Amino acid sequence: MVIEVDRLGKTFGDTEVLRGVSLSVAPGEFLAIVGPSGSGKSTLLYCMSGLEPATSGSVRILGTTLGTLSRGGLAELRRDHLGFVFQSYNLIPSLTARDNVALPARLARRGISGADIDRALAEVGLADRADARPSALSGGQQQRVAIARALALRPDVLFADEPTGALDTTAGEQVLDLIGKVVADGRSVVMVTHDLRAAARADRVLVLRDGVVHRELDHPDAAAIFTAMGD
Ligand SMILES: Nc1ncnc2c1ncn2[C@@H]1O[C@H](COP(=O)(O)OP(=O)(O)OP(=O)(O)O)[C@@H](O)[C@H]1O
Ligand SMILES: [Mg+2]
Repeated sequence: MVIEVDRLGKTFGDTEVLRGVSLSVAPGEFLAIVGPSGSGKSTLLYCMSGLEPATSGSVRILGTTLGTLSRGGLAELRRDHLGFVFQSYNLIPSLTARDNVALPARLARRGISGADIDRALAEVGLADRADARPSALSGGQQQRVAIARALALRPDVLFADEPTGALDTTAGEQVLDLIGKVVADGRSVVMVTHDLRAAARADRVLVLRDGVVHRELDHPDAAAIFTAMGD
């Protein structure tokens, strides 16, 4: 397993947001997490990926238990093995698409060649916009730059929190097609979404409710996810 989450709990102050979530993600698996607003989806994603510490339980990524790592060790694991895509693309406005894609590797002092960056931009269909700044790109194009940035260092797992949330249907479909390519390439994807049609593209869907896994569905269609959320 690439990720193993065991009885994960997360409390903010006196609010128990996650109450014993267990799940695993296999290599090359696409897992979607759905559930009502406030059910803890983003919190689960952040705890699973080491962006937030868990309050109880454990998370193992590629065999390493996150709680045993130093801050530096955790940062290294994230940098070398994990990629992140958020609803708000989080691009640096003053940098071109090319420099945004190169930034994480440069910050990590990891060599990334011009060819690597061009390949990442070509993979997301933006080879011809490499010199554009985010303000000159559409929302869908900005999200594709953010995905290129996440993929440039060839992560084993891509975490995405509402990656299509700010996009129209067509741009959203393009982003989902790209995520499909990442999975076809043998990498794992964990995606939080409100969009049941997006979730229906996953191999497995977890329905989160009140901080616990309410349902787990294998290759469901959107209607089956809708039903599982309601009952
Ligand atoms: N840093 C924080 N401090 C305090 N409470 C928080 C924090 N982050 C999240 N929460 C609370 O945890 C609960 C779950 O939040 P979370 O963002 O995980 O929900 P979500 O399922 O992603 O919702 P949405 O669909 O609206 O994005 C909410 O009640 C939220 O207010
Ligand atoms: Mg959220």
